[in-house]
Formats: sequence, C-alpha cells, structure tokens
Amino acid sequence: PQPLPPPITDTSGKLVNDAAHPFKPLRPNDIRGPCPGLNTLASHGYIPRNGVVTPAQIITAVQEGYNLGHQFASFLCYTAFLTDGNHLTNLMTIGANTTTHGQPTTGLNTHGHFEGDASMSRDDAFLGNNFNFNETLFDAFQVAADAVGGGLLTFDAIVLNRQIRINDSIARNPQFAFETPRFLGAIAESAFIFAMFVSNQTVDNQTPLTIDAVRHFFDFHQLPDGFHRRQGPFDFPLVENLTFSIVDMAGAKPGSNNGVNNYIVNPQDLGTFCYVYQKQVNFTATLYPDPTPELRAAIKQNMLTYYQALGDSTCTQYFPFGQ
Ligand code: HEM
Ligand code: MG
Repeated sequence: PQPLPPPITDTSGKLVNDAAHPFKPLRPNDIRGPCPGLNTLASHGYIPRNGVVTPAQIITAVQEGYNLGHQFASFLCYTAFLTDGNHLTNLMTIGANTTTHGQPTTGLNTHGHFEGDASMSRDDAFLGNNFNFNETLFDAFQVAADAVGGGLLTFDAIVLNRQIRINDSIARNPQFAFETPRFLGAIAESAFIFAMFVSNQTVDNQTPLTIDAVRHFFDFHQLPDGFHRRQGPFDFPLVENLTFSIVDMAGAKPGSNNGVNNYIVNPQDLGTFCYVYQKQVNFTATLYPDPTPELRAAIKQNMLTYYQALGDSTCTQYFPFGQ
C-alpha cells in the first residue's frame, strides 16, 4: 500500500498531446483493456506503456492528461484497485491478468468487479468480449448524434446513447446486471466523455464533440491531434451533478434482468457514491475469505485509503476486517 499522491498544481487547459508524450503503437505484451481513458494514457506514456500500474501513477496521470480532479480520481482509482489490484505488490493492469511483467498481476478486465454491462464500446461479458472495441456497439454514438445532435455528440446525444446501450442489454442479455457500482459507473462514464474528451480548444470554440474525436480514445487509444485537456479539475461535486443529471434525463434505475426484456428495478439499491464505497469494501472482503496476516494488513490499509479518497465524512465507514 501507498498513500494518495498530492494533487497536481497546474490545472490549466494546456496541450497534452505534446512532444513529451508521443503516441506509440502496442508492443507484444503491452496490456490495454475496457477503459478508453486509461488505454489512451498508456499509449501516450502518461502511465507505463505496458499497462501495469500503481494507484498513484493512475491518480497523477488522469489529472495530468484530462484534469480529472484529485479527489474523484483517487476515489475512482481505489474503487477499481480494491477488487482488481494486487494489494501486496501495489500493482494492477489496465486490462487482463498477467504473469509476464514480474509478479502475477490482476486487472480491470475482470467482469463484475468494476467492469460491467451496457458499456458504450465493449460487449457485455455474457454476450462476447468485454474489453475489445466493438464497432457495432460504437455505431450507437452515430445513431444518437444524428437523432438529437445534428451529427455531433452534444450532451443530449450522450444521454440518448446511454439509453440505447441500456435498452440493448435489457433486450439481449438475460443476465444483464446494472446495480451499484456498475449503475453509477456506467452513467459517470457517459459524463466523462462530455466533460473530458472534449478538447479545451473545442470548448472555447463552442464546437461539440465529433464522433471522430471520440473514436480516437475508444478505438485507437490515441489523443486527437492538438488535444488540450479541459480547463480546471473535473471533481466532486461537478462529477456528481453531471452524473445525476444523466440518471434523471435517461430515467435510469439500478436493477438487473431476470431473462431478456425482464428488467427488475432494485429499490434497495441506493445508487449513491457512499453506496459504491460500501458495496466495494464489503465485496472485497468476500474476495479474500482467508487472507494471510500480511495480505489482511495491506487490504485494511487500502480500505482506509479508499475511505479517505471518498472525502465525504457523512458516508458511514466500514471495517469488514476489523478496525
Ligand atoms: C470505462 C476504469 C479513469 C473514461 C472504464 C472501465 C473501467 C475503468 C474498469 C470499464 C467499465 C465498463 O465499461 O464495463 C477506470 C479507472 C480510472 C478511469 C480505474 C482511474 C481513475 C477514466 C478517465 C476517463 C475514463 C480519466 C476519461 C477521461 C472511461 C469511459 C469508459 C470507461 C468513457 C466507458 C467505456 C465504454 O463504455 O465502452 N473505466 N477509468 N476513465 N472509462 Fe475509465
Ligand atoms: Mg463493460
């Protein structure tokens, strides 16, 4: 375990597709996965190009590359690391599990931990491959942009895309699972496109996001030419406000399918960020029923860091391995 890194100090909307961070194609054994944000950072060297990373490297890089706020970056990173990372080596991959890079390292591809259904560009695990780019699913961006954005990815188009992807999983995946944390994760990821994949130059020019720009991240793992990160951090409570407006506009509710076209809303699911923390901490404890003392101490430490990353003392703290 390690403490949270400090926040970056310069949060201007500067050029980040720069000479110091050139795009490079994949080498054998380089790992990419279900997150277009992290895949792109790896292919530009903001995190190690092999895709094997520490939490601190992720937290610093998402600030540097996109101006994701320090608090939310820390929260998001530990939401994943708790269930997908190696607590003893402090390493996680941004995709598949590996034994090629030193100690065995687990990663973000693991279905049902953080990765989940109704993704915008990757299949539901039940239906296919949950980490490779899928052109057919990506087409829903064009459909939504044409329907309500005049061909561009306006906020309304991103909301419509979210609805299309949820309805597609309801119609085709008998095991569609859309409860917390996946519920808020999926919606926040739609918000991320709107808030962080738009070049700051584009924002200044009042030009909404193009399908081509979004394809660079999702498909090519590449920052568009001249990409400037947003001006100022995207952090709590901005993330919460944007996420919950998409929840409302899309009419999304946490739940799951019991057979295709049979979506059951779960009224017990609180659908809040406190609840994400609660569920992830308790789920992690079930993943390690009988840890060695050393592992137990490491997990406990990372659970404390996760609560600190949440940064909201009104959320109840949980100690499944004791205080
Ligand atoms: C999806 C992890 C930061 C944009 C995902 C997924 C994971 C993940 C595991 C797969 C979820 C799924 O679709 O089933 C993380 C972690 C981050 C991080 C641990 C660390 C802070 C970012 C950032 C951005 C971003 C900074 C944007 C700038 C996205 C988008 C998706 C996604 C748009 C949805 C992909 C899709 O639906 O096809 N992320 N992410 N992520 N992430 Fe990240
Ligand atoms: Mg997925």
